[in-house]
Amino acid sequence: MNKYPNLFSPIKLGNLTLRNRIFQAPMGIFPLTPEGHLTPDAIAFYETRAAGGAAVVSLGEAFVHSKTGISHSRSSGIVLLDDTAVFPSLGRVARAIKRHGAIPCIEFEHAGKFGGVGKSDSDPRVRYGPSHDMTPDGQKVLEMPEDMILEIVDAFGQAAARSKDVGFEMILIHGGHGWLQHQFLSPLDNKRKDKYGGSLENRARLSIMVIDAVRKAVGSGFPIVYRMSGDEFRKGGYTLEDGVKFCKLIDGKVELINVSAAYHGIPPIELVVRTHPTYFLERGCNVYLAAAVKKAVKTPVACVGGITEVEQMENIIATGQSDIIFLARALYADPDLPKKAAAGRTEEIKPCLRCLACQGSDWSRGTLVCTINPKVGREFENKFAAPPPARRKRVLIAGGGPGGMQAAITASERGHQVILCEKSSSLGGAIKSVEKVPFLDDLVRFRKHLEYMVNASGTVVMLNTEVTPELVAFHHPDVVIAAVGAEPIVPRIPGIRGKNVVMANDIHKPGVKVGKKVVVMGGGIVGCDEAIYLAMQGKNVTVVDMLDGYERENIFLKLTLDVELRKCKIKLMTNTKGKAVVKEGLLCTDPDGKEVLYKADTVVCAVGQQALTSVVDRLRDTAPEFYSIGDCVKPQKILEAVTGGYDVGMDL
Ligand SMILES: Cc1cc2nc3c(=O)[nH]c(=O)nc-3n(C[C@H](O)[C@H](O)[C@H](O)COP(=O)(O)O)c2cc1C
Repeated sequence: MNKYPNLFSPIKLGNLTLRNRIFQAPMGIFPLTPEGHLTPDAIAFYETRAAGGAAVVSLGEAFVHSKTGISHSRSSGIVLLDDTAVFPSLGRVARAIKRHGAIPCIEFEHAGKFGGVGKSDSDPRVRYGPSHDMTPDGQKVLEMPEDMILEIVDAFGQAAARSKDVGFEMILIHGGHGWLQHQFLSPLDNKRKDKYGGSLENRARLSIMVIDAVRKAVGSGFPIVYRMSGDEFRKGGYTLEDGVKFCKLIDGKVELINVSAAYHGIPPIELVVRTHPTYFLERGCNVYLAAAVKKAVKTPVACVGGITEVEQMENIIATGQSDIIFLARALYADPDLPKKAAAGRTEEIKPCLRCLACQGSDWSRGTLVCTINPKVGREFENKFAAPPPARRKRVLIAGGGPGGMQAAITASERGHQVILCEKSSSLGGAIKSVEKVPFLDDLVRFRKHLEYMVNASGTVVMLNTEVTPELVAFHHPDVVIAAVGAEPIVPRIPGIRGKNVVMANDIHKPGVKVGKKVVVMGGGIVGCDEAIYLAMQGKNVTVVDMLDGYERENIFLKLTLDVELRKCKIKLMTNTKGKAVVKEGLLCTDPDGKEVLYKADTVVCAVGQQALTSVVDRLRDTAPEFYSIGDCVKPQKILEAVTGGYDVGMDL
């Protein structure tokens, strides 16, 4: 008997039956050739999600009208559906998805006033939205003339016909998140005086015309999904009440309504915190929007946003809040979530951290990555089994943090005989120091998952065991892997050893006291998370950072932190250097070189970590093969530790 009977019950949408209620939410198509054709890597990304058991796998943004609708250009290409040349590669991905029993779906998008970017950054920008306007980054927006509206509607229809021809069995129209149809629906963006403006019915007209055009192209019974934002979450914008009224207008015209949330233009994209809820928000924080729509319409409804736990998915369906669950990041982190859940192997599911490394990655790194799933972005190479190891090796791993645990799991799964030694009394490494922070509980789930997988892999775990050259000699392994981590950097400034200083890693230790007024030295992710945690305890917190502040790499996480810092009234002083800890607080040099005192009862030191290189060096020549991974090579994020552990495990 399936543990999740509601989640795994089939559902009919139009002329198709979905094998379960899990729908891989649209995720941007990447990587592409410069011409916008899907690469084998992009095809394999979606194929892997289909093979993992999702009922539907949807490609993300594909633009229907290149003249006006493109919201961004990428050197690696974007999919333009009015270019017939892209369809052969789209056909290949549809076939790859279908091969695994999933339904291939493609999302159609027009960016409206955030569009008009052109195929390359050097193309002239002409932007058209519902009304004359200015984008937040100062670009002029022209009111879209009616003949252009009709041309765009027609482009949706043509894209649908071509997509159906090459094998897509479902079309998803993106009418939310601040793109074209959303802009028409929003009273903030739509000031038109004609039949497309004014009443809700008029503002919804374009959406309905697009649905009708797609329907005409694909025929009755072919499932069309309409994605909308249940609430804009913008002052003066449309509310959930209006969102529900809009859904009533499209009720029965589409086979599924996907209720997402918010509005994000580029820039500012602050509301990305609701479209892609991070770890600061409750899991499934937008489900209530879908539930409100569900009460009002006959059409099946799908919810989305920060849903990562199978129990919650089951509960949402069982309690009638939605018929289908859209998952983006949860399936990014673990494409096999549906199969594992169906088999009751929930502990094996890699729990998404909602950290947005995925969304940030193709902007900053140009490749797909996931903090906890080292196979992301390598789906194509993973289709071909790695050659088995030449022989079974004895592997001794020093350090039971995420990197060491991942190395143990991967090496054991490849058949090696692994001993994992951890100096302290439990596995988890640096994750353990933040376990008390309520909004970081995804990390706790991740630690427990790794621990489960280590034990299931057959690895021998030795706690309270420091790896020394003598211990290595005793076990005489073929391989030693040092994953011993890092230690906090203690800046060389006067007063740093004072009683009023607490190292960030120690905040949650029993007996450690933090005063009411706090200055956090170091505005990286650790400093910010701890600052937010302390502010949530009612403390008055200031963060100083000698550079420009937190999260330089991931724009999406940076925005999230921005929002949270503001919400918690935390002052962030950038380009401000801590000079000395004094009785009254932290003495700093401000950006103009002037001395300034930030008063505090406690100074929290979060200026970073330094690799434990001396420990690594002691172990370096103790076995025929030696590797070091994670923070003891260079302190970075969990992503680098986990990837390092996986890579070394694969290469043995
Ligand atoms: C890497 C990534 C790419 C995404 N690309 C798209 C996209 O192309 N079109 C879209 O409508 N939503 C896109 N989204 C948003 C998701 O469809 C989804 O609405 C959002 O991530 C919230 O769901 P989740 O919490 O399950 O991730 C993307 C999300 C991620 C993480």
